[in-house]
Formats: sequence, structure tokens, C-alpha cells
Amino acid sequence: MRLFLSPPHPSGTEALWLQRALDSKYLAPVGPMLDELENWFKLYWDMPHVLAVNSATSALHLAIHHLREYRHPPDDPRPPLIIASTLTFIASVAPALHQGCEVWLVDSEAESWNMDPILLSRALEEADHQSRQVLTVLPTELYGQACDLDAIHGLTSPRHIPILLDAAESLGCRSYCQSQPWARVTSLNGNKIVTASAGGILASDDALLIDHARKLSMQSREPAAHYEHRELGYNFRMSNLLAAVALSQLETLEARVSRRQDIFSHYQSGLSHIDGISWMPEAAWNKGTRWLSALRMHPETTGWSPEDLRVHLEEVNIESRPVWKPLHLQPVLKQLPVFRNGTADQIFREGLCLPSGSGMSHDDVDRVIHRIQTALTQG
Ligand SMILES: Cc1ncc(COP(=O)(O)O)c(C=O)c1O
Repeated sequence: MRLFLSPPHPSGTEALWLQRALDSKYLAPVGPMLDELENWFKLYWDMPHVLAVNSATSALHLAIHHLREYRHPPDDPRPPLIIASTLTFIASVAPALHQGCEVWLVDSEAESWNMDPILLSRALEEADHQSRQVLTVLPTELYGQACDLDAIHGLTSPRHIPILLDAAESLGCRSYCQSQPWARVTSLNGNKIVTASAGGILASDDALLIDHARKLSMQSREPAAHYEHRELGYNFRMSNLLAAVALSQLETLEARVSRRQDIFSHYQSGLSHIDGISWMPEAAWNKGTRWLSALRMHPETTGWSPEDLRVHLEEVNIESRPVWKPLHLQPVLKQLPVFRNGTADQIFREGLCLPSGSGMSHDDVDRVIHRIQTALTQG
């Protein structure tokens, strides 16, 4: 049987929740499940304003659209500037580029694999030097681990730069940082810790942002019986039925997080005797979810590259995946300026994500461990 990297894990109550949605007669896109889902996130993140949309990419798009309109000086002929992590999925920065922003990329720190505050500080100094107002700093929380929000906030707050946190991969992570981002986005797509099959959440203390994003997400209709539009919007809202699926899945969030953490510990102890393997570290400022269990292979010691191991696992029906290719190495983005220390490149060269689905059994994890062990010890 194939072991997937991170497949959806049914909660078992999806049908009940969908039935509730159908009973409410809201087959229409907007309905009471959406309100319930948004209220769930308000409580969970302790943020008063929440919007549910059809993907995290859309949520990021809306937040950037809002910032462009409200924060970019209209008399500045230069494009709005966004500073983002380089070790991430392209969905973090694609919405900014689609909206004509300029993006500067920042490398990772070794401690968390997330945005390096030292390099961020250099990027901000360069922006100051060029008298550029930074529209937002957009760090990603990789593989379920929080970024060092206190350090990042310490740099952005004196400059009044809002932090737009891409927490698409880190739902369920416990951060001990005191600082809050201006806005937080998470994903409920099919490979996340809980899923609506597709979906994204945008949350903030800023009522203006969420009200504007809500309007934009529904074609920017003005409150008039006829269809009146004073600005161009999008069709980005989440449907009531998918909100019902999300609510069903969220009932299991804590258990799913704890299972992923156990799977990581199981890999770690099962492969601890193999020289040349190390693991994504956990930084002191959080308890991460281990959404994906990520290792580093050191080819000089193991004699195997991560790609050799990935192909080998694929041959026995086990899906694994390289760590994100840094955005500054992507052909479509290679012209973007990058503040670099080499960490993301090295993690990309050495990193591999192992199957991490919370539906995996103990035996499934053992199967992966056994395959890696035999490959690396018997050549
Ligand atoms: C870091 C990061 N940002 C954004 C996204 C986009 O999420 P969605 O698929 O909900 O648009 C993902 C999705 O995998 C992601 O990993």
C-alpha cells in the first residue's frame, strides 16, 4: 500500500457536519457554518476579526491588496515593497507579484529554518537607505514551526511595518512569543493537518482589513439592491459546505497535532543510530506541530543524497519530498534580490520530508524507518 506524504485524515464526523449544513438549507455559498468557522478561529487565535476564503493563497492576496490600497504612498512611483522568506512555497509571494509588488527575499536561520531576523534587519536597513516604505514583512512558518515573531516584531514595530504571517503550515503550533502579527493566514488544503479539502483563513485585530477583505472576496459589492461596484473584487469566499467539513476536522486538531509530533519522535528514535542524519530543529520559542517530519542527510557520511533516498523510497511506494526549493532558486523568481547566508540552499540540498500523515499507523512509520535503515546501512 502506498504511503503518501500528508494525505487528508477523515475525522469520521464530516457527513454529520455536512448534513447539518444541508439541514440549514444553506447550499448557497454563504451560511451559518461559515460564521461558526470564523468564530472558531476568533477564539482559537484570540483575534477578533476572521474571514474564511477558498485558499490561503487568496487570503494572502486579499491582505496584500488591502495594504497596497491603504499603506502604499500614492505619490511614490516605485512599486510597493514586500520582504518575505525565501525557504517556502511560491504561494507566499505569488500574490504579491501578481499585484505588482517588488519582493525581496530573506534567508533562513539554522535554529528554526524560518526567516533570519539578522538578515531581515539588513533588508530593512537597505529599505531605509533607499527611503522605501515596506508594505509588509511576510515570514513563513515552515513545516509547523513558529518563526521568531518577537525578534521580527522588534525590527518592524519601530518602523510601523505590519507583519503578515504565512502560517499556512503551522496551524496547531504553540508559540511562546509575546508578539502578534498584524494578520495571520492559514491553509485548510488537502495536505494540511486538518482540511476542508480547500480553504484559507485570514485573521487580524484590524477590523478595517477584515471588512475590506470580506467585501473584496465577494466581488466588492456595495450595499445596494442592484449590483453596484466601486472597486474590483474577487470571487474568493469559502463555501458554507466546505466550512462544515472544516468544523468537523477541527474537532480533531489537538489529536492530529499530537499524532504528528509522535510520528516525528518515532522517526527520530528509529533512525538515531544512523550517522549522517539530522532533523529539523525545534526552536525554544515554540512547540511545533511537525506537520511534516523533515530530516537532513549528509551525503559525505551516508553516501546517499536526499534525492537518491527519495527515488529509493518511491520504488517501494513511499512518497517523500525534498524540502522547499528556495524561491531565489526558482527560474521564475531568480531576478528577486535576496539577503542570503546560504542556510536555505544547504537545507534544500540536504533536506527530505518523510510521510507524516496523522493516519499513519505505528507499523507504517516502522516501514519507512526500515527502508531507510536498510538502504543506508546496506548501501
Ligand atoms: C507556506 C505556504 N503558504 C501558502 C500556501 C497556500 O495554501 P493554499 O493551498 O491553501 O492556497 C501553502 C500551501 O501548501 C504553503 O505551504
